[in-house]
Amino acid sequence: MDDKILHLKKEIEEKLSAISELSELEQIRVSYLGKKGSITALLKGMKDLAAEQKKAFGADVNRLKEFAAAQIEAKTAEMKKKQTESEIASMPVFDISTPVSGKMGSYHPITLVQRQCESIFRSMGFTVEDYAEVVTDYECFESVNIPKHHPARDMQDTYYLENGQLLKTQTSAAQNAILRKYGPELIRNGTPIKAIFPGRCFRNEATDACHENTFFQMEGMMVGKDISISNLIYFMKTMLSEVFRKEIKVRLRPGFFPFVEPGFELDISCLICGGEGCPSCKHSGWLELCPCGMIHPNVLREGGVDPDEYTGFAFGLGLTRLAMMKYGIKDIRDLNSGNLRSLCQFTDDE
Ligand code: DAH
Repeated sequence: MDDKILHLKKEIEEKLSAISELSELEQIRVSYLGKKGSITALLKGMKDLAAEQKKAFGADVNRLKEFAAAQIEAKTAEMKKKQTESEIASMPVFDISTPVSGKMGSYHPITLVQRQCESIFRSMGFTVEDYAEVVTDYECFESVNIPKHHPARDMQDTYYLENGQLLKTQTSAAQNAILRKYGPELIRNGTPIKAIFPGRCFRNEATDACHENTFFQMEGMMVGKDISISNLIYFMKTMLSEVFRKEIKVRLRPGFFPFVEPGFELDISCLICGGEGCPSCKHSGWLELCPCGMIHPNVLREGGVDPDEYTGFAFGLGLTRLAMMKYGIKDIRDLNSGNLRSLCQFTDDE
């Protein structure tokens, strides 16, 4: 092998073993393999060689070129690995025994009430369902017996997306999906549908102490053979007595909602005066809490459940309103305010 080639090979090995910075590698690559590099110069110089020398010399230079490229590549990988290792070694260590300073966070009052309701309903055999906030017109209105141009839509103006979808105005938007999800099991085995679905709702509202454009509801449904209003009253009474930690009396008044027939407003005996009459209940002894009713045959049919075979109840509990009642919060706007002084004072009383 030509001396020049041997010399260059040795030189490359020495230089590579001596470097300490990743950036030096690029300089070495350029100085041997770049356009003006020493190996490139050897290849260019071949044109001056005699024909019989060219072949052997050319093969040797090419081998040197491959050797240099492979060595540089291996050295690069080795140095990158070292660099990553040293970066990791110099990272601060997370010490889980370090005491946390400052106040710990707490659950939002609506979350507290929601979790409590979920656990009460779970213990009574209900499933807890999650549902989207962006829904179609069909889910929010048509599937629950509110066709286009129905006047009930006037009270539920909302925010529309360019694709025609909307921010749901009511948790009733999930009713159809729940019927479709559990209906087949009801029809096959007679297992009643028992589900609650809490969720955030949106309406185009002028806000004041009692109205917000963003609030929480918790819808519930039970569908099966011979389900009646008595079942509805039993479940609501049990749930409310647990939430308020005392026996709660309820009463039903007629109320209109297109997805129930008959429909009701469920009132509870006033928590302040115990039903005697006081300014909080406008001296009536009752507080309006939860609209409800027997599911309209059209809604059952639309969900694939035969209304001649099965009946069911539904309710749309205002979770925001329930949290306000339970914790004595006077202004609904506090709940979305992000004001920690006011929101961190509530705790789980379970
Ligand atoms: N979705 C109704 C609303 O937001 C509330 C409601 C009323 C839900 C009656 C129900 C029901 O399930 O049966 O105004």
